[in-house]
Amino acid sequence: MDAIDELFSKKTTTGRCVPLLLAPMAGVTDAPFRRIALKFGAHLAFSEMVASQAMVRNTPKSLKIASPTDCEPLFAVQIAGSDPKVMAEAARMNEGRGARIIDINMGCPVKKITNNGAGAALLKDESLAAAIIHAVCQAVKVPVTVKIRLGWDQDHKNGLAIARIAERNGARMVTVHGRTRQDMYRGKADWAAIAAIKRELAIPVIGNGDVVDPESALAMLTQTGVDGLMIGRATLGRPWIFNQVAHYLADAPIPPKPDLGSLLELVLDHFHAMIHTMGPILGNRAARKHLAWYTRGLVDGARFRDAVNRSPDHHTTAQMIQSFFHTQPEF
Ligand SMILES: Cc1cc2nc3c(=O)[nH]c(=O)nc-3n(C[C@H](O)[C@H](O)[C@H](O)COP(=O)(O)O)c2cc1C
Repeated sequence: MDAIDELFSKKTTTGRCVPLLLAPMAGVTDAPFRRIALKFGAHLAFSEMVASQAMVRNTPKSLKIASPTDCEPLFAVQIAGSDPKVMAEAARMNEGRGARIIDINMGCPVKKITNNGAGAALLKDESLAAAIIHAVCQAVKVPVTVKIRLGWDQDHKNGLAIARIAERNGARMVTVHGRTRQDMYRGKADWAAIAAIKRELAIPVIGNGDVVDPESALAMLTQTGVDGLMIGRATLGRPWIFNQVAHYLADAPIPPKPDLGSLLELVLDHFHAMIHTMGPILGNRAARKHLAWYTRGLVDGARFRDAVNRSPDHHTTAQMIQSFFHTQPEF
């Protein structure tokens, strides 16, 4: 059974399990965050995108991104690039390092990536997209998946054509983010367009874009008929969303969000894991954004975030976290 079969064979106590996937997010979905998402019920967590060129040059950053945690039986690495040979080689290297799924990035909208012909730029060149998917599928035994947008812009919405190309060339699953590259993250994701792609494909289709809570998860599922849901921004500072969505989809009462004591435990656990994997200086800096997300809406959060951004070292930050939570009125 390969990793995609495994993903779709998961069952809940009430029967069918809808796979819930943590979206790949550069600068966010590192090993500590993936571990937390999986702990809260994500069935699969994609790595940050790793540049294929950097991977084949063995740069320390790319090797770090492409390293599984010890609690990740279905380690999924996303690769980006525009050269079929390099993409194939990067996929092979990742397979050798334990990846159980290789995902190809065909959706990243940022100029640094698209100017090199990678990410969403591949939507504009269907034959190159086909060559990359083909080369990667030939290079590895593990399943290959593709993450796409609906097209480059409103006048070039070829998401269905790209999804069909992915299927024809051996991809085992396609994730569709319901926006074009031109949309960036603006407006609303077009779920009807995701539904249209889902209807035409035999391989599983994962829906992505604007799932923000259990209700929107069920709405996306019913409106699109997709085989699973991928959640990105709504997990930031709220990784327990996976557990809440899973309960709601299974018709069970939605578990409440963690109380302040449990949240403090979670934040400290996440913080220490970042220090452990990145080292004290980088970890202390990289944790700032997570601390900001976790403390949204809490009393005096703005002052806490400001102080943390100027914290000289991780010991001080850990103390700041402790005293911030202990002075919350409801702690
Ligand atoms: C900070 C950030 C980084 C992202 N990095 C990636 C990436 O590396 N690869 C990718 O395919 N998509 C990336 N995305 C897009 C997300 O995977 C997802 O498609 C998008 O956020 C829409 O889903 P959402 O509405 O659930 O957030 C990124 C999004 C954000 C907010």
